[in-house]
Amino acid sequence: MNLNLNGAKLADINPRMYGLFFEDINYGADGGLYAEMIENRSFEFVDAHGDRGDYYTVFDGGYGWSVYPENAKAEMAIVSGSPLYAENPHYLRFTSSQAGAGICNKAYDGITLKEGEEYRVSFYARNISASGNFVVSVISGGKAAAFATVPVRDPRGTLPNFWEKYEVTLTARKSVRHAKFVLSMSSGGTAEFDFVSMFPADAVKGIFRRDLFEKLDAVHPGFIRFPGGCIIEGNTLANRYDFKNTLTIPERRKNNWNRWAVHENSEKNHYHSVFSHYNQTYGMGYYEFFLLCEALGAEPLPVLSVGLACQYQSFEYVPQDSPAFAGFVQDALDLIEFANGPADSPWGKVRAELGHPEPFNLKMVGIGNEQWQTDKIDFFSRYEAFEKAIHAKYPKIRLIGSAGPAVKEERYGKAWAFYDSHADDPDFVYAVDEHYYMKPQWFLDNVGFYDSYPRTRRVFSGEYAAHPESRKNTLEGALCEAAFMTGVERNADVVRLSSYAPLFGRVNFWQWRPDLIWFDDETSFGTPSWYVQKMFSNNVGDEEIDLGAAVGDLRSRGIYVCASRTSAQKGGDYIVKIVNLSGSDQTFDFTDGGDRLACVSKEVLSGPEPEAENTISDPDRVRSQAEDPADPAVPAGTFAVLRLRKA
Ligand code: AHR
Repeated sequence: MNLNLNGAKLADINPRMYGLFFEDINYGADGGLYAEMIENRSFEFVDAHGDRGDYYTVFDGGYGWSVYPENAKAEMAIVSGSPLYAENPHYLRFTSSQAGAGICNKAYDGITLKEGEEYRVSFYARNISASGNFVVSVISGGKAAAFATVPVRDPRGTLPNFWEKYEVTLTARKSVRHAKFVLSMSSGGTAEFDFVSMFPADAVKGIFRRDLFEKLDAVHPGFIRFPGGCIIEGNTLANRYDFKNTLTIPERRKNNWNRWAVHENSEKNHYHSVFSHYNQTYGMGYYEFFLLCEALGAEPLPVLSVGLACQYQSFEYVPQDSPAFAGFVQDALDLIEFANGPADSPWGKVRAELGHPEPFNLKMVGIGNEQWQTDKIDFFSRYEAFEKAIHAKYPKIRLIGSAGPAVKEERYGKAWAFYDSHADDPDFVYAVDEHYYMKPQWFLDNVGFYDSYPRTRRVFSGEYAAHPESRKNTLEGALCEAAFMTGVERNADVVRLSSYAPLFGRVNFWQWRPDLIWFDDETSFGTPSWYVQKMFSNNVGDEEIDLGAAVGDLRSRGIYVCASRTSAQKGGDYIVKIVNLSGSDQTFDFTDGGDRLACVSKEVLSGPEPEAENTISDPDRVRSQAEDPADPAVPAGTFAVLRLRKA
């Protein structure tokens, strides 16, 4: 069939339209992208219990740690009194009458080493009565797969309260999985330990797990929204992601429990689950998020709390006329100064001291995550208060509003009525964040969702994913997302930003699926949805082309298309995206008026059957591949991106 690409411009496309949504859910940060290998490195973990509106935590500072070997004549205790830093007041006191005994960390799934690779270990110790060496090893099957020693130093120490920092590098003699991290002493005695840390030496910027970073990089995200999601709000306000606590050295970042630790708690599981020890070390704090964006060439999009705990999980809020609320607004101003202020401004100085004197060039800020208006909670006037304060000081900062948890419901309708009432002020809201986790068929039925939006609206489709009954990342789900995205791109004048959610899932540690990228202790894979995001994001034209009646005709046959043009400076290519759910292969030829267009590249996402998914053991069952551009066929059950040029 012929597609004529000579149509008029439908919309200018935001070159940064396709981005990523990051949240520490499914062990996405601690135990995930944050490359720290030790679990509970500063002996501050808590065990979280409870349910909506009624949470409590039990301190469990020894979580993940045990004496090694199990039957050693030794004991450990979690104590406080002379901490390295007051923010994390606990540390581990170890006493042994046996040479070679030590402490051992469970490290999520255990320690994974790759033969020949290096690992940087550091820890703080107070030498009470030990002598000889501290010994750092990774033990697998009773043998050391990696090993290093460092002499115990002067008991007077050099840091506050007589602490001393020790650093060693381990080289893996062989590859191992599910091994134990052991920090021991060559002689008996007493020592105290804190902030025991181990990173693979190949971590990107010494922070990010390399394989996961590379999967993000492959998407070429236009922006990254962080740090969530619900963790922005917290299950209680004290549990929210308080970014200011993260703007310091990692050792001073106050540990917090993770809002996802209590997900799906119920009477049945006694309001406690296997995830109850999911904590946030904040090793990936706001500074690291900004570094991540910089390294990926993505625009940062931090989302701020508006003084409401997660509206699904809590009834807690700070009144809008309280000093506490003014503090939340002030946080927004301080964040912008942290990101963009000169290195001698109060918050710019904090950034400079963390190692980045140059500004991060923050342009967008989100006001609240998934909030809605209720009888008690006036989210709209909260938004207005933030908008007024931010734009009074930083008129160019673009603000993201919230349309609540789901589209096509009352809360969403009310939200749009509010934002529409400010349509005469183009700066009031840059885009409104909409969320839709729906059945795959919904995405097909709603491919024209944005066609009817008033053209004054600006949308951030900030969280979406096709949720099949199985809640798996199937090819079919991804194709439905791709079909929907053709409709999103055709409305690029309205939809300025778009991101799939959530981003990461750790095998055996997840609370929510589907997710974009899965990983375990050793490896990772992109889901079919990851390929879809990658293919859209790597093929952004400058202007969307009106394909006229062809779009509707094709949709009625199960074929979903959108087309764009790049500028002359970028080669004047045409980019056509086609999802073929028609049930049979389709062949296309393309013209621009009288000119035939030659296909110069063709990338096709395919898999063996609609239910196909990728897994750790079969990571490429569904994947995209470059195919012969001269072949005009787009096979049934695939998504293709074609680049075309005038012959
Ligand atoms: O993406 C998972 C969750 O879905 C997010 O935390 C929240 O914003 C939404 O409800």
